[in-house]
Amino acid sequence: MKKIVVLISGEGLTLQALIDACKCGRISAEICAVISNKSSAFGLQRAKLENIPTQTFLRKNFVDNQAMDQAIGDYIQSINADLIVLAGYMKILTAEFTQRFVGKILNIHPSLLPKFPGLNTYQQALDAGETEHGTTVHFVNEEVDAGAVVLQAKVPVFPADTVTDIEQRVKTQELRIYPLVVQWFVSDRLKLINGSAYLDGEQLPSHGASY
Ligand code: GRF
Repeated sequence: MKKIVVLISGEGLTLQALIDACKCGRISAEICAVISNKSSAFGLQRAKLENIPTQTFLRKNFVDNQAMDQAIGDYIQSINADLIVLAGYMKILTAEFTQRFVGKILNIHPSLLPKFPGLNTYQQALDAGETEHGTTVHFVNEEVDAGAVVLQAKVPVFPADTVTDIEQRVKTQELRIYPLVVQWFVSDRLKLINGSAYLDGEQLPSHGASY
């Protein structure tokens, strides 16, 4: 059985969806560790409830980001994880880390990339007068929110929407699509080859597959 490590910084709703999917067999893999860069991350409690080992790496305990990511990477290598899943991990990974695990890191970002990388995507979408928004699962490379796109899910944006309305709509989709993509990866259907995402041997378009 393949081993997954999940990196979090906060609430861990996405982590919970992955835990539940592993428990019910929708993901045929084991979450072998949850790593956080915040000791207060509620996701750590979720992991503990499921007897999943947790590790916390605090930036203040390392001389620089590179040293921190080196330690995280060494831990991940020591437990032989096959896949690193970023689930609300709010710290930018160093290029050394992303290159060390190239093709093995997935992230979910709440926008239809390449639109709105970075933070506050819901507000950005509202400000831009978008009529649709969404979420993207992508491989991680050394640029923030820029690796090969695997799957996108769209949601409508209505004229009277608030940030919360859009966020709720997007999150509902995120909890559906992330377990699906993780299952594609652990069942060897999804691969990163020369910077492009392939599903079942077919290169995915630049906006990925659509949910
Ligand atoms: C998700 O909305 C995802 O798009 C972003 O972080 C959020 C996950 O946070 N990268 P959490 O699972 O609720 O902690």
